[in-house]
Amino acid sequence: MKLLKLSIVVGALFCMASCCCKSSDLPDYLNPEKDIEVRIDDAMARMTLDEKIAIIHAQSKFSSAGVPRLGIPELWTTDGPHGIRPEVLWDEWVQAGWTNDRCVAFPALTALAATWNTEMSALYGKSIGEEARYREKDVLLGPGVNIYRSPLNGRNFEYMGEDPYLASRMVVPYVQQVQKIGVASCVKHYALNNAETYRHTTDPVVDDRTLYEIYLPAFKAAVIEGGAWSIMGAYNLFRGEHACHNDLLLNKILKGEWGFDGAVISDWGGTHNTREAITNGLDLEFGTWTDGLTMGKTNSYDIYHLANPYKELINSGEFTTKELDDKVRRVLRLMYRTSMNTDKPMGSLVSDAHIEAAYTIGTEGIVLLKNENNILPINLETTKSIAVIGENAIKMMTIGGGSSSLKVKKEVSPLEGLRKRVGEGVEILYARGYVGDTTSVYKRVDSGQRLADDRSEKELIAEAVDVAKRADVVLYFGGLNKAKKQDCEGTDREGLGLPYSQDKLITALTEVTDKLIFVNISGNAVAMPWIDSVPAIVQGWYLGSEAGNALAAVLVGDVNPSGKLPFTFPVKLEDTGAHSMGEFSKDGEENYGEGLLVGYRWNDAKDVAPLFAFGHGLSYTTFEYGEASINRKSMREGGRVTITVPVTNTGSRAGKEIVQLYIADKEASVMRPEKELKGFAKVELAAGETKSVKFEIEKEALSFFDDKQHCWVAEPGEFEALIGAASDDIRTSVIFTLK
Ligand code: BGC
Repeated sequence: MKLLKLSIVVGALFCMASCCCKSSDLPDYLNPEKDIEVRIDDAMARMTLDEKIAIIHAQSKFSSAGVPRLGIPELWTTDGPHGIRPEVLWDEWVQAGWTNDRCVAFPALTALAATWNTEMSALYGKSIGEEARYREKDVLLGPGVNIYRSPLNGRNFEYMGEDPYLASRMVVPYVQQVQKIGVASCVKHYALNNAETYRHTTDPVVDDRTLYEIYLPAFKAAVIEGGAWSIMGAYNLFRGEHACHNDLLLNKILKGEWGFDGAVISDWGGTHNTREAITNGLDLEFGTWTDGLTMGKTNSYDIYHLANPYKELINSGEFTTKELDDKVRRVLRLMYRTSMNTDKPMGSLVSDAHIEAAYTIGTEGIVLLKNENNILPINLETTKSIAVIGENAIKMMTIGGGSSSLKVKKEVSPLEGLRKRVGEGVEILYARGYVGDTTSVYKRVDSGQRLADDRSEKELIAEAVDVAKRADVVLYFGGLNKAKKQDCEGTDREGLGLPYSQDKLITALTEVTDKLIFVNISGNAVAMPWIDSVPAIVQGWYLGSEAGNALAAVLVGDVNPSGKLPFTFPVKLEDTGAHSMGEFSKDGEENYGEGLLVGYRWNDAKDVAPLFAFGHGLSYTTFEYGEASINRKSMREGGRVTITVPVTNTGSRAGKEIVQLYIADKEASVMRPEKELKGFAKVELAAGETKSVKFEIEKEALSFFDDKQHCWVAEPGEFEALIGAASDDIRTSVIFTLK
């Protein structure tokens, strides 16, 4: 099919070129020198009703038709968002068994968000964009920016954390860089897909203010600043209509208020109603009746909502072609930006640069949560033996978890990475410790691992304890995995606790060693009831192809950790707004009763101490903050204030610090969160070096969404700029007024 697609384009262009030579003689729709809108007008004028209908719905699991008669090629989509999904059979989810579709897995998006580094986001977008391009994909189904509302959401690992500002800053470079190479980003899942188990039937009850302030900003940034060419409607409903055909979300907000000119693509199987799909903003339908062609006699794609049923409504006179033409125009625009763009680079697959990008992003995203007595980094000069314990030290994590599952060229496990890094000089003793998920084949991709182990819990713990006793340092790799009800699409977690009796195992280990380092491999917060007995804790995420190398580099100190948490780790579930005041993961109406108080906003409002706060992350060096100074103590309409704070590396090695700016509105007529992130900067400092970090504060950072007037409002009065190393670690602040 790819070959056919290529030959159609080449054929059409060759024919034009050989008959006419000059591009000015090409019909407008094929003339690359013409403006895209002119080309679209011309293409539309030539298309029949059937051809128009054909391009607004799928023709296979991941592709939609072009206009073969006119030499307009098919459009190919791919998951996303951490690597390029293996080719699947025409009409099935399972892989097709190609041998040339192995990819690089980049760190999961939570890890990217934990870098707090927009350059990492740009590198990510560039690298994954090149992989998509090489594989001839036109639309990358990602990134995901749904807000982390509860640690139980099975899909949090695919998103960028709990804060709308952080997610907004991080999503923009990703989108821009993917699109630079002629591949569209399809930002997902718009909007409010914050839980999985009931994702098709849940209808979040969210007020306008919360919607605009918490759940929409990252999508808005992706569209307005990132210039996203497509967006994916979520599965859930909102105010009674499915998000894939939702008048408010799609027509009014996305296309109306934000002026989105791209195409709205349905999530796979997210379209439910033909009339709503026609009128409420959906442009391109995918995945409906996903049994597709396997049904037999007829082509099921013809009975998609935006296929024959739509055509019949036009033929019967119930609808004109007004809505159709808008959809076709948007889909053609998507095509002209991607599949019809003949001037895009080739891309590359599994290049050294991509592997290095995965490694670098991984090392920057790892978060050092606790490091008592500087037990980390592991000193290889003095350490003779390291016990490595836990299933996650060996388990491949790029397979499983739903649509983001990959088929990688290589994945370095933590155990392998460590072995390679420490070499012969240090003995490594491994014990499994627990048996969690032993699946090795996922959608016909075989990890090659055979993890079945019938030893009892008692035997596994006994072996781990024995190994721990014999080693100088104990590295425990546990956490979650990509199995159902862990970090996995389609299901939510059942609790905050670690699965597979890991707490019991960890407690047993703490009884025989005071040198236990817990590396949590997960995309979500977990409970740590044993925290006081474990001196070092590292958040290790899902780091993709280079996981083991990146972790080893940080654990032995080749790389100084510089990630910070993009979401709060609560002590217990009730310490989050969603589980205390709101409802989570429900069939039907689901009350987001906590409103704006998501993540650290809840901890601040209720004075609840987190286990680890949003923005928290340590380094092997230390940073001192001087006093913040402000250029003007007051700000006028249209103006800005500049705040400067000196930050010094007071330790003995180079490191990077993420300096965070929060704003507090001191005199508001409405409830406002105690403080909100409105700026951050990642600065690299040599030992002893001081740098001045500068933040510009504009009116936007002071505003709230006034749901009565339906606009953003900054009220005159006093504000405080709080600058610190984490949301619970403010080091300096200044007051200013808005006049
Ligand atoms: C997921 C999307 C994904 C699509 C295609 C859906 O189940 O929600 O994120 O892009 O499948 O695989």
